[in-house]
Amino acid sequence: GRKTRTHHLHAMKASGDRWAMLTAYDYSSARIFEEAGIPVLLVGDSAANVVYGYDTTVHIGIDELIPLVRGVVRGAPNALVVADLPFGTYEVSPQQAVETAVRFMREGQANAVKLEGGERVAEQIAAITAAGIPVMAHIGFTPQSVNGLGGFRVQGRGDASEQLVADAIAVQEAGAFAVVMEMVPAELAGQVTRKLMIPTVGIGAGNECDAQVLVWQDMAGYTSGKTAKFVKRFGNVGDELRTAAATYAAEVRSGAFPAEEHSF
Ligand code: KIV
Ligand code: NA
Repeated sequence: GRKTRTHHLHAMKASGDRWAMLTAYDYSSARIFEEAGIPVLLVGDSAANVVYGYDTTVHIGIDELIPLVRGVVRGAPNALVVADLPFGTYEVSPQQAVETAVRFMREGQANAVKLEGGERVAEQIAAITAAGIPVMAHIGFTPQSVNGLGGFRVQGRGDASEQLVADAIAVQEAGAFAVVMEMVPAELAGQVTRKLMIPTVGIGAGNECDAQVLVWQDMAGYTSGKTAKFVKRFGNVGDELRTAAATYAAEVRSGAFPAEEHSF
């Protein structure tokens, strides 16, 4: 296969071809997603939740994310691997943002970075882009700001739609190659998608975005407890793994494993 580049995503927008993005946090799952035909993988700061078990993404740091990026890049050499910039590593200034993005490119070997915010981070997006690093933006509900946004809620309803549109235009003008829209009314997300030249990637943003993204554990049924309304489970990996582990343990206890064919 060929390496996915940002211009391929722009060509797909022009031809009306939709694409799927998934998160990935390690070599083994990244390999499977590349084999499955996922062109773009996100090493999300959702690793805070699904890898480290923290309750929000506010708690994860650069040094916890970069090693995960390295594994994903090795597992999926043809995917466009996007790395999330964690909370607190880009807000202070465009210089801070460039320094952090450079670390993810050099130490993590990522192909692009993602950060949260619209107008308020336009200078950061412009500075990172000017350094030769592709930037994916993320607007609507931005989980790193959960404390400022007053919880997990839909963004852009009513009068707030104007700010959402302004954010979308600001990130495009700043040079972002794509924009994630999270928890935005479907109709508004469709309007933004038609207005922008760059692809929109929806999560809880309806069916009119150019692409979709899900956290892979949500997508594959590998999360415990309740998932968000926007999640669809396409598998039962958690049940499969639990059954496999329980059967293994039972066979060890009974002496059925290892059998002769597993022995030397
Ligand atoms: O961290 C993440 O997983 C994300 C996506 C869900 C967009 O930012
Ligand atoms: Na994220």
